[in-house]
Amino acid sequence: MQNSDTNLILIVDDTPTNLEVLSEALTDAGFDVAVATSGESAIKQIEYEPPELILLDVMMPGIDGFETCKRLKANPKTKHIPIIFMTALADTVDKVKGLSLGAVDYITKPFQQAEALARIQIHLKLQNISVALEQQNARLQQEIQERVSAELALQKLTQELEQRVSERTKELSQALHDLQKAQVKLIQSEKLATLGQLVAGVAHEINNPVNFIHGNLQHASCYIEDLLALISLYQTQFPDSSLEIAKKSKEIDLEFIRLDLPKIVSSMAIGTQRIQEIVQSFRNFSRHDEAEVKKVNIHDGLNSTLMLIDHRLKAKPGYPTIQVIKDYGNLPPVECFAGKMNQVFMNVLSNAIDALEELMANTQNFDHKLSPIIRIHTEVVGGDRIAIRITDNGPGISEVVQKRVFDPFFTTKPAGKGTGLGMSISHQIVVEKHGGSLYCISCPGNGAEFVIEIPIRQENFSEPSWWESPDILETSVQSPESSLIAQI
Ligand SMILES: Nc1ncnc2c1ncn2[C@@H]1O[C@H](COP(=O)(O)OP(=O)(O)OP(=O)(O)O)[C@@H](O)[C@H]1O
Ligand SMILES: [Mg+2]
Repeated sequence: MQNSDTNLILIVDDTPTNLEVLSEALTDAGFDVAVATSGESAIKQIEYEPPELILLDVMMPGIDGFETCKRLKANPKTKHIPIIFMTALADTVDKVKGLSLGAVDYITKPFQQAEALARIQIHLKLQNISVALEQQNARLQQEIQERVSAELALQKLTQELEQRVSERTKELSQALHDLQKAQVKLIQSEKLATLGQLVAGVAHEINNPVNFIHGNLQHASCYIEDLLALISLYQTQFPDSSLEIAKKSKEIDLEFIRLDLPKIVSSMAIGTQRIQEIVQSFRNFSRHDEAEVKKVNIHDGLNSTLMLIDHRLKAKPGYPTIQVIKDYGNLPPVECFAGKMNQVFMNVLSNAIDALEELMANTQNFDHKLSPIIRIHTEVVGGDRIAIRITDNGPGISEVVQKRVFDPFFTTKPAGKGTGLGMSISHQIVVEKHGGSLYCISCPGNGAEFVIEIPIRQENFSEPSWWESPDILETSVQSPESSLIAQI
């Protein structure tokens, strides 16, 4: 870019008279003037001290004005310097050629001083304006560049920020999910621990008195037998007893007592034996609930669970009985945590009953067409799993609720009725503990079906040797009482 502080004009002409006339006129007008007498010397001079404007003659020895102009325009350092050709008045061809080579104007010889000066001044002004514009343009370009890069940086930053926010949100929702799961586990294990202690205590307290009742019953039975034999003996030895004895015998219906008493004693023995079994299952539960996987009959577990909720299935004033259809398939013994699976059955069955009760309460004149039914279907699927399908003809589950059924603490039941933990605990038991799956199928208005699938064999399960537990199948079957405990 040229230095606008200088006021230097270079005149290139091989005719000394021309040089003289022009120099004088320009100097008088306040310009600094440099002169060159050939194209070559002009080019050298311009490189050394670039002028603000060049007045260039066409006809010169050596390289002519056109060639000089060409070379100056080809050089990036000099191409911006305005060139005015000096041509003879009639030389139209030269004028056009000069302009096409990049000259800004021409002045004709002989010079009209005033016109030449006016043209020079206009071109200098134009040159200054164009330089200022270029500078401004460069500034604007730079500004645009800066803004573009600032915008790019901002975009990058926004993207990074968005990414971080979404990562953080993901982390937080995962943390929340984990926390809820941990909470459910904690509640469950806490419940079981307290329950285990309670059950162990109760079992211990009941065990002793029951044992001595049961033990003494055998003696009592023997004594009773002896006493009855003695009475018979009296009757044979003294057939004619006194009137008073005969009266008393009739009054107490001695013959009936003789027949009934042994039956009573043996039913008492059966009763105490049952209590002992219950106590034993309490003890088993409190000791073994967290124990290893056992091979069990799933139908026994379902039946015990049904026995425990039997009271909820019975007809009540205004409500009919809830009918249970057992559509059991042919299942092999299944390796599982029996108590925990019973807990799952209890949760699903209780929900089905809740749903049916809700429907009955909301449906006036509940008629026979709407008789409440729970169907339990079991089958082997894919050769290595079993499926238990528990279906009810209750109100069904809307899609919105279906999405959240297994979420911890999600309930649609009134406060105090549901904790919203039943299905999430069941999900944990089936999916995490047994590697199975638990899902529901429902069309609102058409009841709901919960499908529990677990593998028949569990990894890490080793069959006990016959001498360790020959009757493992028998002992592993959960009694209804231990299932009840698993529910509390
Ligand atoms: N058979 C069903 N029919 C209709 N809705 C059901 C059925 N089973 C579950 N649900 C819905 O799923 C929700 C969650 O069930 P979940 O067993 O986890 O909790 P809850 O029964 O509400 O409370 P809790 O079992 O802890 O006492 C229920 O509140 C209910 O809305
Ligand atoms: Mg429930």
